[in-house]
Amino acid sequence: MSTLIELKNISASYNGDPVLENVNFSIREGDFIGVIGPNGGGKTTLLKVILGLIKPTAGEVVYNREKLKKNRIGYLPQIAEGDINFPVSVKDVVLSGLMIIKGHSARMSSEDRKKADYVLQELGIHHLSNKSLNKLSGGELQRAYLCRALIGSPKLLLLDEPGNFVDTSFEQGFYEILKDLNETVTIMMVSHDVGTISTYVKSFACVNRKLHYHDSGRITTEQLKAYDCPIQLIAHGDVPHTVLKRH
Ligand SMILES: Nc1ncnc2c1ncn2[C@@H]1O[C@H](COP(=O)(O)OP(=O)(O)O)[C@@H](O)[C@H]1O
Ligand SMILES: [Mg+2]
Repeated sequence: MSTLIELKNISASYNGDPVLENVNFSIREGDFIGVIGPNGGGKTTLLKVILGLIKPTAGEVVYNREKLKKNRIGYLPQIAEGDINFPVSVKDVVLSGLMIIKGHSARMSSEDRKKADYVLQELGIHHLSNKSLNKLSGGELQRAYLCRALIGSPKLLLLDEPGNFVDTSFEQGFYEILKDLNETVTIMMVSHDVGTISTYVKSFACVNRKLHYHDSGRITTEQLKAYDCPIQLIAHGDVPHTVLKRH
C-alpha cells in the first residue's frame, strides 16, 4: 500500500502554546482512520496541518504528488450550530467546495454545475439543491457538506466530527455512505464516538498532543489508556458506547 501523506516530526502551536508535539504518522492509501482524543487534544489542528492551513512550528509534511494532486483533498470542517444560520442554497454550498481548487474569484462553469448535480444525486439530496441551508435537517446538512467535500473528486477525505449534526439514527446511514466511498477514497475522520465508528474504520489515530497510530478498527479501553487517550463509557440504550471524556 502506498503512502499518500507522511508527517515527519510535526509540532504545532498557537501563540507559543504547543498543541502537537513530534507527530510521526503516515496516511496510507485505502485506509479509513478514526481520529479520536479528548477535546482540545489537537485533532482539528492535525487536519489543518495536513491541509496546509496551519504551518507547523517544526517538522515536515510530505505529499505523494503522484497520487495526490493539490486539489485531491476533500475537507468537511468542524461546524458549530451558529455557523449555518445564513440563507445560501445547497447547490452554492456544494459549488463552494471547488473554490479551494479554482480560487475564490473563479466563475463556476456549466461543467462545475454538472459536477454539483452529480454528487447531489449520488448522495440522494438533489431535490434539495435550491433549498436554503438553514432550512435543512441535521442529516440533510451533513450530506450537503459531504457533497461539498466530494465535488473535487478527492483522493483523501478529511472529516472533522461529521456526526455533530445528527442524532444516532441518522449516523448509521452516513457511515454506510463513507464505507462505500472508502472503496476508492482514503478517509480520515474525527469522531468522539469510538463505539459506533469502530464498525467502520480500519485504524485509529489517538491524538492528545502526541499521536499514537493503532492499526486496527478494534480498540480496547486499556489500549486507549496506554495511548494517553482519556475515555468514558456511557450507554445508549442497550449498546454500550465508548465516548471520549471531555477535558
Ligand atoms: N486559532 C486558535 N488560536 C489559539 N488557540 C487555538 C486555536 N485553535 C485551537 N486552539 C487551541 O489548541 C488546542 C487544540 O485545539 P484543537 O486542535 O481544536 O483540538 P480538538 O480538535 O482535538 O478539540 C486547544 O487548546 C485549543 O484551545
Ligand atoms: Mg476539533
